[in-house]
Amino acid sequence: MLGYTAVIIDGTQIILSISADSQLSGRYLSAAIVVYNSMKNKRFFITGGFGFIGSTLVRRLINDNEIMTYDNLFRNALGDDPATKHPNLTAVQGDVLDTQKLEQAIRDYRPTHIVHCAAIAGIDTVVQKPVSTIDINVTGTANLLRAANELNGLERVVLFSTSEVFGTHAFQSSEITSAVIGAVGEARWTYAVSKLVCEHLGHAYFHQYGMPVTVVRPFNVYGPGQVGEGALSTFIKRALSSEDLIIHGDGSQIRAWCYVDDMVEGVYSVLQHPNAVGESFNIGNAKAVTTIYGLASTVIRLIGSRSNIIFQEKTHADIELRVPDVKKARDLLDYEANIDLEDGIPRTAVYYKEKLSL
Ligand SMILES: NC(=O)c1ccc[n+]([C@@H]2O[C@H](COP(=O)([O-])OP(=O)(O)OC[C@H]3O[C@@H](n4cnc5c(N)ncnc54)[C@H](O)[C@@H]3O)[C@@H](O)[C@H]2O)c1
Repeated sequence: MLGYTAVIIDGTQIILSISADSQLSGRYLSAAIVVYNSMKNKRFFITGGFGFIGSTLVRRLINDNEIMTYDNLFRNALGDDPATKHPNLTAVQGDVLDTQKLEQAIRDYRPTHIVHCAAIAGIDTVVQKPVSTIDINVTGTANLLRAANELNGLERVVLFSTSEVFGTHAFQSSEITSAVIGAVGEARWTYAVSKLVCEHLGHAYFHQYGMPVTVVRPFNVYGPGQVGEGALSTFIKRALSSEDLIIHGDGSQIRAWCYVDDMVEGVYSVLQHPNAVGESFNIGNAKAVTTIYGLASTVIRLIGSRSNIIFQEKTHADIELRVPDVKKARDLLDYEANIDLEDGIPRTAVYYKEKLSL
């Protein structure tokens, strides 16, 4: 915990007292005094800002804030979106492994808030590129935090971990549930391991330097803009074209599905809430839970598709059960995901219909 008490008046956090063992000190303490001043006129540095979640966050913040995105465009969910022409946006094409360019971009831009979305994500890509996964996710995050630590006036750094850190059977996993890491040699787990290192590194910067870091652990995010792979986006695209929906395994795998706008509201919440500093949060929709077979059937029903469901052998290690406990975010941030599948799937289908010109 932060070791201070504060009140929020008209959106501004005012610190009333600081305990002797507070981890907030020096330059980070002065930033904390204004940290809850609503998300207006801030300077955001968003790595991976052209990706699925990053681009949705850019749209959420762009009218009220300055944003610099830093992305190597491995993926591009913004395309020719009007946000790319917005006067508040500066888009830098850069790699988080390019230490010099990253450091210079951060130093010159002097952000008040950093959101680090850039990563190799998506299990198919991870399995094909396990070396890049470890390198980009671990070294890229280390580069970012080292550069961020040189800044003055930094109010928040948000890092992305993953629900994969809970392993293959995770029911109502809370933030203090131990991480479970799969067998070495199975490429899929390089992602969970890399994200776990990021998470530890973020907490280490908080403990050692007082950097105002928060970690979010997304649980199966879906929605418009998912240009990388994802089971739900694949189902929706195939259902729109009346192609078979392919399930790997028997379809009994259980997931909780979080619509991207809910995910971004979770990030928005940790960006400004004083309770978020030095903490990790599960961000997911614990009510939108179904088996993969149930998901495929729901997609077919909601889209009115003529697709069939077929079953194939699994090609790599899988998660059998993954449902978050979201009590911590509810208690500390007053945040909860609330868009259900019956609402989120049709909204996502509209996006793909337009994108695929169907
Ligand atoms: N979508 C989910 O369900 C989910 C679940 C758990 C965690 N996450 C995490 O959330 C974050 C965002 O995920 P997303 O779904 O938007 O993924 P995404 O792949 O759509 O976005 C990642 C972005 O990072 C960029 N990028 C990749 N390598 C880079 C590099 N070396 N340098 C600079 N930019 C680079 C890509 O171009 C892309 O725009 C990631 O950290 C991911 O691990 C996502």
